Amino acid sequence: MELHITETVLRDANQSLIATRMKYQEFDAILETMDKAGYFSLECWGGATFDSCLRYLNEDPWERLRKMRSKVKNTKLQMLLRGQNILGYKHYPDDVVRKFIDLSVDAGIDIIRIFDALNDTRNIEVAVDETLKKGAHAQGTIVYTTSPIHNMEAYAELGINLEKMGVNSICIKDMAGVMSPKEAFELITTLKSTVKIPIFLHTHCTTGLGPLTYMKAVEAGCDGIDTAISSFSGGTSQPATEALNYVFTQQGINTGLDMKKLKEINDFFKPIQEGYIKSGVLNPYVLGTNTDALNYQIPGGMLSNLISQLKQQNALDKLESVLLETPKVRKDLGYPPLVTPMSQMVGTQAAMNVLSGERYKMIIKEVKSYIKGEYGRAPGQIDETLKQKVLNGEKPLECRFADTLSPAFEKTKAEVGDFAKTDEDVMDYILFPQIAEKYLKGENEKPESGKRTIKYTVEAIG
Ligand code: CO
Repeated sequence: MELHITETVLRDANQSLIATRMKYQEFDAILETMDKAGYFSLECWGGATFDSCLRYLNEDPWERLRKMRSKVKNTKLQMLLRGQNILGYKHYPDDVVRKFIDLSVDAGIDIIRIFDALNDTRNIEVAVDETLKKGAHAQGTIVYTTSPIHNMEAYAELGINLEKMGVNSICIKDMAGVMSPKEAFELITTLKSTVKIPIFLHTHCTTGLGPLTYMKAVEAGCDGIDTAISSFSGGTSQPATEALNYVFTQQGINTGLDMKKLKEINDFFKPIQEGYIKSGVLNPYVLGTNTDALNYQIPGGMLSNLISQLKQQNALDKLESVLLETPKVRKDLGYPPLVTPMSQMVGTQAAMNVLSGERYKMIIKEVKSYIKGEYGRAPGQIDETLKQKVLNGEKPLECRFADTLSPAFEKTKAEVGDFAKTDEDVMDYILFPQIAEKYLKGENEKPESGKRTIKYTVEAIG
């Protein structure tokens, strides 16, 4: 039996532990070794890396990808894409989604993992179609969450729909690390009997379940898992690559990984990790186990966001109330999975409900849009009173929000100033207008290691 291993140190581990602050220069020297370690793929781009490059690191994200490609010649390079949201926090028109994928594949991406926060497959169709047209590997995603309305049948049906859409593989994305070994075994067994394409599992160690969950998943026939090299593993990151490789190799499962190379890779990243602990960017708190997510269904990253938000407002004493309010808001909204951008929306609304002293006295703009159907179909029923309050007699949107948007790429290209010189620059500008303009005009502050502060409120969860 074979097991594919995807290394996440460059993207998810980097994002989950140090808010995606790793600079290209820090890992350039190890890329050629990583290419020879035997990984199935390196998850190295997308998610929050793009935003972080422009916003904090003064780096061209496309240039970063091309440099990685020049060093990693054999191993597949993988990215995470939020479907119609691309790498931003709102929906973009189809032509922008297609252009983004074309540019990404041209710059070196092999595998695109595509998800929609609401598991509304209409929001990933265009991205999947374009990825396949470009000859890249389209990985469809099942965003995993638990709620009274989420069950095995619904996930199995989603798997069948993804296969019908033509994706090359399916990833079950457990961003909160709440999938138990039993659930993993059941879900993978079900999917293995309903779809033919390979199944990958992505989880986090947040609640401590991660390695156990992988164990049962592989027992059920899971084809691939995501792990992080040990110095960047654990806590809100993925389980350790070396440990899982040790376990599965002992069981006679072929991971293709070279232990010696893994050690070299970890020896390289260890001092980097230590540096981030010293400078305070890596808070040891996120390396621990936090079982709150099992009770509150709150991803680890979201918890740090909430703590940081409440601290800023001098209201940390309200944390317990906000944690209790969060699942209630989620229920009112029809149980959306807590992944970017839903996690930020639900958390902020819960905080608002507590701090204002009255539930839904103030409703944030994004929650209003969600109730109007602008993010896609809610997984379950939205609370009727709340719905009426927001819709005020209007009808919710039936079609995809992207169907209401006019093509934007060529128009923006014609209108944007001289600072955007290439199609990639234009894309940066469409995704993050103010930040990209500042970056492209060279007005960004140079990042100084050790002095960077992390604003958790804008961090992505995935
Ligand atoms: Co993740």
